Amino acid sequence: MKYLVIGSGGREHAIAWRLLNDGSASEIYVAPGNGGIEDKYRIDIQIDDFEGIKKFCDEKKIDLVVIGPEIPLVEGLADFLSENGIRSFGPSKKAAMIEGSKLFAKRIMETYDVPTAGHWDFTGQKSLIEFIEKQEKYPLVIKLDGLAAGKGVAIPQNREEALAFVEENVKPDSRVFLEEFLEGEEASVLSISDGVTVIPLVAAQDHKRVFDGDMGPNTGGMGAYAPAPVVTPERMKFIKERVLQPVIDGMRSEGIPFKGILYAGVMISGDKITVLEFNARFGDPETQVILPLLDVKLSDLLNAAVDGNLDKFNLTFKDAHAMTVVVAAGGYPGNYEKGKEITGLESVSDKLMVFHAGTASKGGKIVSNGGRVLNVTSIGSTLKDAQQNIYDEIGKIKFDGSFYRRDIGYRAL
Ligand code: AMP
Ligand code: GLY
Repeated sequence: MKYLVIGSGGREHAIAWRLLNDGSASEIYVAPGNGGIEDKYRIDIQIDDFEGIKKFCDEKKIDLVVIGPEIPLVEGLADFLSENGIRSFGPSKKAAMIEGSKLFAKRIMETYDVPTAGHWDFTGQKSLIEFIEKQEKYPLVIKLDGLAAGKGVAIPQNREEALAFVEENVKPDSRVFLEEFLEGEEASVLSISDGVTVIPLVAAQDHKRVFDGDMGPNTGGMGAYAPAPVVTPERMKFIKERVLQPVIDGMRSEGIPFKGILYAGVMISGDKITVLEFNARFGDPETQVILPLLDVKLSDLLNAAVDGNLDKFNLTFKDAHAMTVVVAAGGYPGNYEKGKEITGLESVSDKLMVFHAGTASKGGKIVSNGGRVLNVTSIGSTLKDAQQNIYDEIGKIKFDGSFYRRDIGYRAL
């Protein structure tokens, strides 16, 4: 089969790598891809160019389009392709609202009795500021509705920080809500659904803060590992029965079946499991540790979901551990420079897989082209082995200003 992967991050590099390496694909293209994708497979079409994507699929007779990022999903790429007779993996525009609107997700969770934090809704600044003026308990969680590339959530530690965030980010028509602050350990439970059946993938844990010890601002994710032992078999059973299946059943009953990856970000504290958010896509960098552990062909899994055959699918994972460490550009998640030459990529051993995230190829050289630049990944028979493999060699890969966390996996080790 011929595949087109939409996106340009480490997630998309990992999807393309897996499809090529497990015998899934005869040909695979990535639009727009990054410096890790060979030139002949990298297609210069942007993710919002729906017509361009359609034209390419027609020309190359693409069998399945795998949509990586949330933006084209929320903007209806899956619907557009389907209207044009092109198969794709990823939810419809309406179903992707589970990620695209945090208020929609709250409504679904409340309707179908999925455990989530209590919340208070506001529109614009006035009543929100009045509420904050009276609020004594901090930290507080403020969430803007709508996609905000990870910048829609603030966790102010005091009233001044809360008011500053509101002043800067809440427009007169912004829909926003406050949520109680939850303590505990976070995990990413991705699952795959055909709209009826839902099957959890191996649980992963991301590291959202930029610095070691979970310090500094939130990022898109600085590293991940799987399996995450915090998601014990009992907790996974609870998440499947009380979170994933009710959402899939509820959305189907409302006429918006969810087909694709349903990703639940959960907070775990003892027996208490609470959903923080849903994503409608593969996580990044979680995908970079989940896909290497998959013990089936990725194409079989994706096609079973698209064709509505997951009830007969026996999804298994390897008995191994995977870790990925993000190499980022100096200044990320704030301002950073691009175009720095990356050296040492050829010098690492085959214990590592280096997925490219924010890179470009330029005159035969690989240069940085984003904040999260590379995902240095390894599989081991233990998590410790995978971690050791990475930290033994990650220092060989360098560019001006590059940095990475040195403690990925610490909660499990
Ligand atoms: P979200 O996009 O809703 O997952 O929020 C981004 C990050 O903010 C999460 O990964 C958590 O680290 C943190 N967060 C969100 N909601 C809460 C909450 N209610 N309590 C504590 N932390 C939260
Ligand atoms: N790693 C978090 C996300 O993909 O949203």
